[in-house]
Amino acid sequence: MSRAEDILEKLTLRDKISFISQMVMERADLSEYGMKNFLLADGPSGIRMMKETDQEDIYDTLPLTCYPSASTYASSWDRELVWNIGQHLGREAQTQNVSVLLGPGCNIKRSPLGGRNFEYYSEDPVLTAELATEYIKGLQKEDTGACIKHFAGNNQETRRMTINEKIDERTLHEIYLRAFEKPIKEGSPYMVMTAYNRINGEYGAESNVTLRDILRKEWGYKGCVVTDCFGAHDLNKALINGLNLQMAGESPERLEEEITEMLQKGTLSIEQLDQAIRPTIEMAVRCEEVSRKESYDPEEHHNFARKAAEESMVLLKNKDDFLPLNAEDSIAVIGGMGKNLRFQGGGSSHVNPYRLEQVYESIVKLCPQAIYAEGYTDDISSGEMIEEAAVVAEKCDKVILCMGLPEIYESEGYDRVHMKLPQCQEELLQRILEVNKNVAVVLFNGAPVEMPWEEQVSAVLEAYLPGEAGGGAVANVLFGKVNPSGRLAETFPFKISDTPCYLNFPGRWNEVTYAEGIYVGYRYYDKKEMPVRYPFGYGLSYTTFQYSNLQIIKKDKEIQVSLELKNTGNRGGKEVVQLYIGKPGKWFECPIQELADFQKIWLDAGETKQIKFILKKDSFGIYDTDIHEWVVESGTYRILAGSSSRNISLEGQVEWTEPKEYPDITEHTNLEDMIRLFGKEQQLRELFKDNPVSLGFLERCMSEDPLTQSMGTLMSFHTLRRIDNKLTEEDIQRMLKELNQRS
Ligand code: GLC
Repeated sequence: MSRAEDILEKLTLRDKISFISQMVMERADLSEYGMKNFLLADGPSGIRMMKETDQEDIYDTLPLTCYPSASTYASSWDRELVWNIGQHLGREAQTQNVSVLLGPGCNIKRSPLGGRNFEYYSEDPVLTAELATEYIKGLQKEDTGACIKHFAGNNQETRRMTINEKIDERTLHEIYLRAFEKPIKEGSPYMVMTAYNRINGEYGAESNVTLRDILRKEWGYKGCVVTDCFGAHDLNKALINGLNLQMAGESPERLEEEITEMLQKGTLSIEQLDQAIRPTIEMAVRCEEVSRKESYDPEEHHNFARKAAEESMVLLKNKDDFLPLNAEDSIAVIGGMGKNLRFQGGGSSHVNPYRLEQVYESIVKLCPQAIYAEGYTDDISSGEMIEEAAVVAEKCDKVILCMGLPEIYESEGYDRVHMKLPQCQEELLQRILEVNKNVAVVLFNGAPVEMPWEEQVSAVLEAYLPGEAGGGAVANVLFGKVNPSGRLAETFPFKISDTPCYLNFPGRWNEVTYAEGIYVGYRYYDKKEMPVRYPFGYGLSYTTFQYSNLQIIKKDKEIQVSLELKNTGNRGGKEVVQLYIGKPGKWFECPIQELADFQKIWLDAGETKQIKFILKKDSFGIYDTDIHEWVVESGTYRILAGSSSRNISLEGQVEWTEPKEYPDITEHTNLEDMIRLFGKEQQLRELFKDNPVSLGFLERCMSEDPLTQSMGTLMSFHTLRRIDNKLTEEDIQRMLKELNQRS
């Protein structure tokens, strides 16, 4: 018998009930069961280690490494780097006796206004899934559990605990669930945290669809499912559907009353209760059986946090090679964030950093003559502050202007209502441009901002929320110690009204409709052929790369793709080779292209490497809501390779044939589709040989005259049964059977 079963057997009913709740955010004492204490702690970019379990100030925590935010390191597109972020976090968690770290956050960025977008990876489910899988593997390599969250559909903070999201089935599977599937199936996180919100009327903590049917049955997840704080509603339904743990819930006394009543009423059996608490006990046992590391090197972790930030920053503009800077340059560093780094988001992910590296102090180490002016403090400035900054800017050849969103603008619990930077910062920029045209802007923001000034400046470096060592990382990129290699994991639209869900975010009252369906992010902008400020996958380097020699080989169950990548510049650097697929879209509405895979590659100056990809069937899949399964259309697929979704260098095609053509012909399929999409003209002539009326409509389909033609093409068995008195019900069923016969 397993240790968990042994413990379970000895539990009284009261003990069992105690395992359903209050087991988190505090060091639960399990000693009476012969188990070590057990602790969950936030968060995805650093450990929010409370000093006292029931302290009021959730920000008064122990100083521990604050790594770049998820939106920042997602821009690294670097699986190995993200694995190492997980590993570093796992090691620190071990030394704090944290059993499970509450991350990664895998929700899709439906709108740039989402308040927790800084905590999430991307607008794309494949990039999200790939990086989250690595994070989980790295974390759990150190025997610290991961808790992937928030399953599923936490795409806004507005009314997050009650909102009902109306999401069609295909969109739910292809976008919002897909981001979680690989991390859960392949990463095997210790825990899954359910989302607060409802999807199609059901709360995440108890859903028949996402929790019971998808997570537990279809994906076969056996780990521990926990609610978000106070996130349970119908606890009876939740426990039966696969929930194991309330992350804080009602008092033990009230919980005991509630469960006892369920048992007495027979709406919950003792076997179901045992089944509900077993994963928690198994996980607690798993957590205590690992070897605890006693220490870590905070300086090494700090330096790694800087490296992670360096690898993630995105160089968005670099006119006339304005960057990198030289140590001899005459430089003004301006902006409150130059001395007061904006490095993380607000809410439960907040970390008390080990130590901060500021931008200005880091630049001065590389360029001692650099001078500074504050210009603004967050979103407050004055004429005097702006004039002081203008005087400093005028004295120097080049200006580094640090702009960004104050932390209060981006947090758990509320969404942004616009995408603008603080007005005082833009006023400062315009004043500086009056005295000095040579301006590089460094941005500190967890999600896209509008940049009406972009054409006026020489360079833009997107530093996102770079973590505690972000200042040093910015300086190293600006001075070329590091060649920037970040690529946007989300589209930067020109303005919020361009976004796919603009008319449906954050919804009205307690309901929001995902009317854009699968057209989230670049899927939307590409399909609409819309210009964007910066596209998904975009980012510049201090060198250049050339793509050539695309080879596509169809194997039985996979597509082998290779290409050659050359560094055509004069310094080494990393390129993110992105592979997109364009589906035939014959039977299903499809985006122009969808990310299928990616690789980040270092190349020395002048070096060429062959890059290989293996595309499996699931890269070509479409969720067919008629049969509620993933399918692959037969047809011609476009394979596209490039350095962003809007900078495709190579394109090829490959045929994929599936035994079953989609969809079946039914009595509602018209003659035009049967002829042109299914190629059934000859077969229909044969079938209609004894039905001259139906044959006559078939002939009309061939007419040159469009009106006559339409009299045929619009017909279906549904209508022919009314018109052709010789066409019996048996005839129709027989004909449909023959038409759908697959060789
Ligand atoms: C919060 C967050 C969740 C966090 C939890 C514990 O409500 O939604 O991400 O892990 O509570 O702090």
